[in-house]
Amino acid sequence: MKLRIITSNPGKATEFRRALGGMGFEIEHADEDCDEIQADTLQEVVRSCMSQLRPLALGDFALDDSGLFIDALGGFPGVYSSYAFSTIGIEGILRLMDGDEERSARFECCIGCSFRGEEFTVEGRCDGAIALRPAGAGGFGFDPIFIPSGYEKTFAEMSIDVKNGISHRGRAIQALSGTLKGKV
Ligand code: IMP
Repeated sequence: MKLRIITSNPGKATEFRRALGGMGFEIEHADEDCDEIQADTLQEVVRSCMSQLRPLALGDFALDDSGLFIDALGGFPGVYSSYAFSTIGIEGILRLMDGDEERSARFECCIGCSFRGEEFTVEGRCDGAIALRPAGAGGFGFDPIFIPSGYEKTFAEMSIDVKNGISHRGRAIQALSGTLKGKV
């Protein structure tokens, strides 16, 4: 089954390819982009991107929107994660949490898929905590400061396969694979 992954983030493309390739999908990467609307939920952002891409006739495709939700910051940066990353960055998030002992957080991922003319979304979530300082050189985005529950390492200190096995995106990709296999 051929699926085009739409993202301008090479880290995401690698994770999709790695996870779905092993599940028997033929993955193509398209570096298209869409305007991320300001919305309250990842689902709304994903739905908006899908309708922006619809006229481009890209065939069967999937894209995702993800966010880091930090409890001590009232869920910030959440749907504003991309903006927060490119403005205050990891150091800014750590500064906002300076002195906070409550460090619980979660990553959420919503994948939108257009398959044989039908559109649907699937979701995945990974609970964890914000590290006191960045660690690790792998991954992308906020990976160096996110420690998934049950682990002592950040996502950036894990291999892609280990991260995919537990991450928000990895879980959403599993749901995507299950849904697609039910449709063929
Ligand atoms: P978006 O889904 O590309 O809008 O991502 C929002 C922000 O969260 C970007 O700054 C990403 O780098 C970051 N982000 C998304 N997914 C992950 C992840 O799996 N690990 C770390 N950061 C992520």
